[in-house]
Amino acid sequence: MRVYDGILDLTGKTPLVRLRTGIRSDGPRAYVKLEFFNPAGSVKDRMAVHIIRKALATGVIKTGDTVIDNTSGNFGASVAMVASALGLRAILTVPDKTSKEKIDLIKSYGAEVIVTPTDVEHSDPKGYYMMARNLAKKHGYFDMTQYDNQDNVEAHYLTTGPEIWEDTVGKITHFVAGIGTGGTLSGAARFLKERNSAIQVIAVDPEGSVFAEYVRGNQLPEPAIYKVEGIGSDVVTKALHPDVIDRVITVNDKDSFDRARLVARNEGIHGGGSSGSVAFAMEQVASECGGEAVIVGIFADGGIRYLSKCFDDEWMIEHGFLPSEKMMEKGR
Ligand SMILES: Cc1ncc(COP(=O)(O)O)c(C=O)c1O
Repeated sequence: MRVYDGILDLTGKTPLVRLRTGIRSDGPRAYVKLEFFNPAGSVKDRMAVHIIRKALATGVIKTGDTVIDNTSGNFGASVAMVASALGLRAILTVPDKTSKEKIDLIKSYGAEVIVTPTDVEHSDPKGYYMMARNLAKKHGYFDMTQYDNQDNVEAHYLTTGPEIWEDTVGKITHFVAGIGTGGTLSGAARFLKERNSAIQVIAVDPEGSVFAEYVRGNQLPEPAIYKVEGIGSDVVTKALHPDVIDRVITVNDKDSFDRARLVARNEGIHGGGSSGSVAFAMEQVASECGGEAVIVGIFADGGIRYLSKCFDDEWMIEHGFLPSEKMMEKGR
């Protein structure tokens, strides 16, 4: 029988599919790695599985223990899934701006969610960041600290990087990925550069995030608000290793959302808003390359999580990303 022993065995080994939108037909070949094929629907499954399995294997935790972290989205679902599959209790702290769908998704795996105020300082004990740290300390929970945990980076060094290398039979020339914690980019890029140091690593950062200037070695700018989810940050993270990055491309919300919608409509690849950011950056990279280049980008999650956001015309108009004439054309 061709079967799996448990849901976690379906993590990783995600497919690479050709991306054509924005890429010249006589130009380089571009492929995107579809991380929404992971069981809880995003790239974050890889780190949740790796961090928790490693902690169990090394005796840091045992069945029945509690794991905790702060999350604003996908990671919560991944941790909740892994905890459910491995007999652990999971607690996730989330900011109150988190959509109901995301909170319900985490809860549906049986995890507990603590909703905290969004508009507080990073160091405020009422906020989602310090709440997770303090609860872990007080009760002896296993604190996953996704933003700084080097096992997050290691998950991608051990899986994402090798999969890309093998699936392109070593022909990859450019690697393009967004930075959330930095784990995906840092781990996969390190593996790829160890195999071939000529591979160019391109980080994608939203306008308003501090990562781009950090990677360039400049003074951190004042963070600004942006709507794309899953990438960018107002603070620097330890899971991001700037030494493996050759270049950062900054993409704004409108270009990200327009591109995610276009790719879905043009070729049926339904990535989330940040996949739009990556696809947009890949066009820029491709425009500078010859036909021999092989560009690989990461689509971190699927568009189905954003049906009420960038895939909703009214939401796009409300936030100024689509002209309101479009509504009139539709006779609304
Ligand atoms: C929705 C989403 N989740 C996660 C990530 C990657 O996260 P990390 O840097 O934490 O590995 C990205 C990056 O593109 C993303 O867009």
